Amino acid sequence: MPEPSLPSSTETIRLQLRSWPEVESYLERHKGVIVPLGSTEQHGPTGAIGTDALTAEAVALEVGRRTGVLVTPTQAFGMAEHHLGFAGTISLQPSTLLALLHDVVLSLARHGFERIYVINGHGGNIATARAAFAQAHASAASRGLSNADRLRCKLANWFMAGPVMHTARELYGEREGHHATPSEIALTLHLEPSLEAKQRPLPEPAPAGPIHGPEDFRRRHPDGRMGSDPYLASAAAGARFLDEAATALTADLEAFLSDDPAAAD
Ligand code: NI
Repeated sequence: MPEPSLPSSTETIRLQLRSWPEVESYLERHKGVIVPLGSTEQHGPTGAIGTDALTAEAVALEVGRRTGVLVTPTQAFGMAEHHLGFAGTISLQPSTLLALLHDVVLSLARHGFERIYVINGHGGNIATARAAFAQAHASAASRGLSNADRLRCKLANWFMAGPVMHTARELYGEREGHHATPSEIALTLHLEPSLEAKQRPLPEPAPAGPIHGPEDFRRRHPDGRMGSDPYLASAAAGARFLDEAATALTADLEAFLSDDPAAAD
């Protein structure tokens, strides 16, 4: 597997800004690609609906800049069925997301991409993304793709990277919570300073617990938060989370590209 190139600019690593001959020539030396995956869902009364997509995209572009690996457009809709009780949420059913990711992987594999690295910003996508990878492997083989055997997909959840979780615990303790967390909100404040105007102290959140559907979620978590205090978030901490996530995922991606069996999912 070829070495990733030297650090690049945002323009050169965005697939959207490349021409097809440029992608074809990239593929002569590189087999990796990053797919940012988010969600469009409520993030409490003060958080942006686009939090999971904004954060996944920012981490993906930073990892792309550091490694020279191409970054596809962000898939901003994810599996958010349990958030549909809140205005503005747009959800894909698990079967829809599965089909979508399957088709993305197969399209990329057809051109010769063999290391599909999905940078995810939403816990609700995890099970479905893994199922989509399994389906894509089966389809690549049954369609007789020449590189079916060499195709690898990996899901990287930036918010679960070791250093990110460590810093979140250090800064916020239990008040990190499980949804609309100060760590993800901090990253959005760093990316979009206008969001600072929404920040205000909030009452004690309902604790995290099992969720059975959108109505149940809203009953248990009336303002959308699960045990979190997003008012603790700051743009400065957001810059730190972005750097820590990008550092951890850059190392993980490089191991994945170099075919380290321990790094593959
Ligand atoms: Ni989120």
